[in-house]
Amino acid sequence: MLSPLLFFALLFFYAAQGLQFNHIEEDTEFVNADSKYGSLWPLPQKVNFSSVSFKLSGSTFRIVDAKESSAGASCAVLQNAYRRYFDYIFDGAKKQWAGKRTRSGASELGELQVWITSPDSECDAYPSVSTDESYELIVDQPVAVLKAPKVWGALHGLETFSQLVYKDEFGSRNINATTISDFPRFAHRGILLDTSRHFLPIKVILANLETMAMNKINVFHWHIVDDPSFPYLSKTFPQLSQKGAYHPYTHVYTPADVKMIIEFARLRGIRVIPEFDTPGHTLSWGGGQPDLLTPCYSGSSPSGTFGPVNPILNTTYDFMTQFFKEISSVFPDAYVHLGGDEVDFTCWKSNPDIQAFMKQQGFGDDFTKLESFYIQRLLDIVGQTNKGYMIWQEVFDNGVKLKPDTIIHVWKGNQQQYQNEMAQITSAGYHTLLSTPWYLNYISYGQDWHNHYKADPQDFQGTDKQKELVIGGEACLWGEYIDATNLTPRLWPRASAVAERLWSAKDVKDLNDAYSRLSLHRCRMVERGIPAEPLFTGFCPHEYKGI
Ligand SMILES: *[C@@H]1O[C@H](CO)[C@@H](O)[C@H](O)[C@H]1NC(C)=O
Ligand SMILES: *[C@@H]1O[C@H](CO)[C@@H](O)[C@H](O)[C@H]1NC(C)=O
Ligand SMILES: *[C@@H]1O[C@H](CO)[C@@H](O)[C@H](O)[C@H]1NC(C)=O
Repeated sequence: MLSPLLFFALLFFYAAQGLQFNHIEEDTEFVNADSKYGSLWPLPQKVNFSSVSFKLSGSTFRIVDAKESSAGASCAVLQNAYRRYFDYIFDGAKKQWAGKRTRSGASELGELQVWITSPDSECDAYPSVSTDESYELIVDQPVAVLKAPKVWGALHGLETFSQLVYKDEFGSRNINATTISDFPRFAHRGILLDTSRHFLPIKVILANLETMAMNKINVFHWHIVDDPSFPYLSKTFPQLSQKGAYHPYTHVYTPADVKMIIEFARLRGIRVIPEFDTPGHTLSWGGGQPDLLTPCYSGSSPSGTFGPVNPILNTTYDFMTQFFKEISSVFPDAYVHLGGDEVDFTCWKSNPDIQAFMKQQGFGDDFTKLESFYIQRLLDIVGQTNKGYMIWQEVFDNGVKLKPDTIIHVWKGNQQQYQNEMAQITSAGYHTLLSTPWYLNYISYGQDWHNHYKADPQDFQGTDKQKELVIGGEACLWGEYIDATNLTPRLWPRASAVAERLWSAKDVKDLNDAYSRLSLHRCRMVERGIPAEPLFTGFCPHEYKGI
């Protein structure tokens, strides 16, 4: 039997161990205080709360079009969103609430009226980089009013409204009188998903689009193909996925799948920007398109392996012309991402035909000139489809001539290097987008969201005019170690930190306040069925039920 003394000594020992453990954890600095902003995420630009509260009853509450609204009952974007948010607010089935009246005397909020104020609601359009996403929300008696110039702002306002609803100790829904005026700090708030390194089933993509909307993320950057696989089923070149996908029938995105994803995203105010990265990262293109890739040589004979796209053949450009003609009609967004990163010159160097071409063009030994030669022609081809393009920073670094509306995507280097890069790009007058600090595929023990949260795309040496050329950023989730089993918890709520940085005002950076709101926001995502991982020790009122 343990003597009492030993017992206490052991207890003390373990307690001390615990303390010590806590000390190596950075998280002890966190005061577990509630934010005065409740669970709002990302934090709106202006919020005024009052302590007057109203009840919401699932049997009577309605989300309706305001009489003055320019969007009618046929507006699918809004009608769909009304249903979604009603279900989120009342946890699904309406009948569950029928007859369950609130206690008498409590004043009730009966209606949320949604009023699209500009003559063109954009209900049937696609969101774009210049979309007006602003809204105003006034929660008061007798009705709450959500005003937005366009449907896109109304979608954000509905999400915010749903975030204001809380359950009281009796489990009934309440909302306080509140005034919110809101708009995003940056127009481009994206997430990159990679469907080449692992195929992602449609269901996972849709669940993450849904979660993006909960975080006011408005761009799905679809890194659809790369070296390992080519899951995009092209109508013009079906051999590409036939030979390049992991499986030609089960691991492809058919034209119908792509269409469905684009519409699902549109209904949530999200743009879909596809990336077809060339001339590197293209091994999977080779099987279905003979002669597209450069044959590598070992000594004087072909080694049987292939390198980047072959830039010296006219057939390459004929192919690209037809391929991007299809892409520009399949994807409605005004931009396509053309990649252009990490071109490995080893194979080009080994190939005697390429060497001869280099000589003929007077490129010397400078293979970046050959890369630029290719990219230049590609940009001209894509430019003729009336699309704008985004490209990774190397294309700018190599001095390729770019259309003035090109968006340059920064992904390399340490903080000082990416800040210099942002300064250089903007002083050359180009729009830019930051991803370097937001590679969410890198994981580490502890609360790595702090660093994602602290990074700011406008923190670099430059004039105000330069800062205005920063259109936002993207969180990237590269897929080497990610498939449907772990994608969602790895992305959320870590991407939520990026979402707030890109939406909320620049001075919103209190980590304690953010921790409190983000914990609640994470639990809300969990309650909505999204397996978002925890930030730290704690619990959710409705835990994830598992598989
Ligand atoms: C909402 O109202 C309740 C009840 O009046 C009050 O206790 C609470 O502090 C209010 N919440 C906010 C965020 O103002
Ligand atoms: C919040 O209240 C302040 C002070 O009463 C007022 O100046 C401001 O316009 C209000 N903001 C909103 C969004 O209603
Ligand atoms: C490729 O096209 C260029 C320009 O149209 C032409 O001058 C050249 O002869 C072509 N090369 C081949 C191998 O057909």
